[in-house]
Amino acid sequence: MRYLRPNIAAMNGYVPGFQPDDAASWIKLNTNENPYPPSPKVTEAILAEVGSDGASLRTYPSASSMKLREAAGELYGFDPSWIIMANGSDEVLNNLIRACAGEGQDVGYVHPSYSYYSTLAEIQGAVVCTYGLTDSFAIEAFPEYYHGRVFFLTTPNSPLGFVFSPAYIESLAQNCGGLLVIDEAYADFADWNALELVKKYENVVVTRTLSKSYALAGMRLGLGIARPGIIAALDKIRDHYNLDRLAQAACVAALRDQTYFRESCRKIIETREWFTHELTAIGYDVIPSQANFVFASPPDKNGKRVYDALYGRKILVRLLSDPLLAHGLRISIGTREDMAATLNAIAEIG
Ligand SMILES: Cc1ncc(COP(=O)(O)O)c(C=O)c1O
Repeated sequence: MRYLRPNIAAMNGYVPGFQPDDAASWIKLNTNENPYPPSPKVTEAILAEVGSDGASLRTYPSASSMKLREAAGELYGFDPSWIIMANGSDEVLNNLIRACAGEGQDVGYVHPSYSYYSTLAEIQGAVVCTYGLTDSFAIEAFPEYYHGRVFFLTTPNSPLGFVFSPAYIESLAQNCGGLLVIDEAYADFADWNALELVKKYENVVVTRTLSKSYALAGMRLGLGIARPGIIAALDKIRDHYNLDRLAQAACVAALRDQTYFRESCRKIIETREWFTHELTAIGYDVIPSQANFVFASPPDKNGKRVYDALYGRKILVRLLSDPLLAHGLRISIGTREDMAATLNAIAEIG
């Protein structure tokens, strides 16, 4: 199409995980959603915002999402000027690339991790360079000093589930000439996070999502934490009404109900540890995970065989298209009952 920019015409779009229309008839463990509902306070807040006649929907929402920034700032220990709210953390990742990397400039990330970074860089016409992992989960051949514009580090890593150590991430921050974007989509399930590094290094940005640990994937809520200068730039380029009224109400209610949130995470972590133990006991190779999923390989290293057999039993897990990951599957952690059923099915399949 002659109307398109050549890089857009040439690129393949990102392919999100399959969302079946009849989701209720599946055990759905393919997109790392939370198996528990969000806090009941979220539903209350959404209903209160709609009101009995929906009149509030006539008017635009807050353009600044200030109440959300305040709630997040209080929770994470930052001034609201260090926080931007977004329509999913994908929006923050997108705007970080738009703000920092132009045509022909370098953007890097670890492979395997979240391939959407590549799509975003391609849209900009930026040059993508990926770095593999060593057997001990360090970045292979990371340069002594990284000269690219943005480097994305997913920790806990998806799809593998491991975390980089705080000292290792700090060394990357010191050796990164551009922004180091630490994508902490799964950090609420981990033993530690990198928020302190945002305070310490001006090139560090942390992104978070409410899609997983707060069970709000359907509301599209995420955030970024960085120095006010970076936040101000992101504010300039985002859609001015990027969060709708209902999402804003849901977000504040969710962040304020920490008791519910902690209990939900606790159950998922407990189930993850149990599932990892049981799956290992039947001969699977399971990478110890700090996220709400595990990456597991059957003894014959044939992920597709197990994926197909589970699919036939209406259990949906993630088989990644990357040939490097064909030996295993990423399995989200559902309820204890879901995981017991999945384990029984896997034991039958072998
Ligand atoms: C590593 C990683 N980053 C970001 C996202 C996007 O999250 P959100 O739903 O907030 O856009 C995902 C979603 O699966 C993810 O796995």
